[in-house]
Amino acid sequence: MQILVVIAHPRQNSLTHQAGRAFAEAARANGHEVEFADLVAENFDPVLKAEDEPDWSGRDIDFAEDVRREMERVERNDATVLFFPVWWWSMPAILKGWIDRVWAQNWAFGSKTYPHAKVLMVGIAGATEDDYRKRGYDISFRTQLKVGTLDYCSVKEGSVELLYGSLEGEAQAAAIISSAKDLGARF
Ligand SMILES: Cc1cc2nc3c(=O)[nH]c(=O)nc-3n(C[C@H](O)[C@H](O)[C@H](O)COP(=O)(O)O)c2cc1C
Repeated sequence: MQILVVIAHPRQNSLTHQAGRAFAEAARANGHEVEFADLVAENFDPVLKAEDEPDWSGRDIDFAEDVRREMERVERNDATVLFFPVWWWSMPAILKGWIDRVWAQNWAFGSKTYPHAKVLMVGIAGATEDDYRKRGYDISFRTQLKVGTLDYCSVKEGSVELLYGSLEGEAQAAAIISSAKDLGARF
């Protein structure tokens, strides 16, 4: 399988990038091919423009050139994996904007469905699993991304993983990278 790994983090030595690379290495060892989309390094413009807005009557629109390029990049792969840090109990704005603009009506939902049957979203979380459970952040996060985004776009094998405790020290950081590797090996 050809996997598009989308990374949304400004720092190459971040845990997010390290986890994305660990995932890719294990997926390649498992026979997959991987293409990276490094949204910050590529300077992706996440701001949805008037020309990007859906025509809610359902008519097709002409997608902007940079949006079409992103769609083509998705279409030449078979699966999508997103790696991002959890910022404010959600994803960074650049990734949210990538979804706002690229997962468009009549491409990802509406008259069509998202091009891939398999999509994995991996959030690297600073707080612990207990912190997430205590306030229901885990449920809200999964509802928003799994139900509200992946199911909405009819992704058959959509899943959301939270790798917790990135700020809890070196052992926990190593455990996160190891979990990312496992996800790649099992993909
Ligand atoms: C702007 C910002 C907002 C953050 N918000 C959250 C949050 O809501 N929940 C959380 O668990 N961690 C939060 N964090 C911590 C990040 O998740 C943490 O820095 C990251 O997982 C560490 O990995 P990295 O090296 O890839 O950045 C936030 C960090 C930043 C910079």
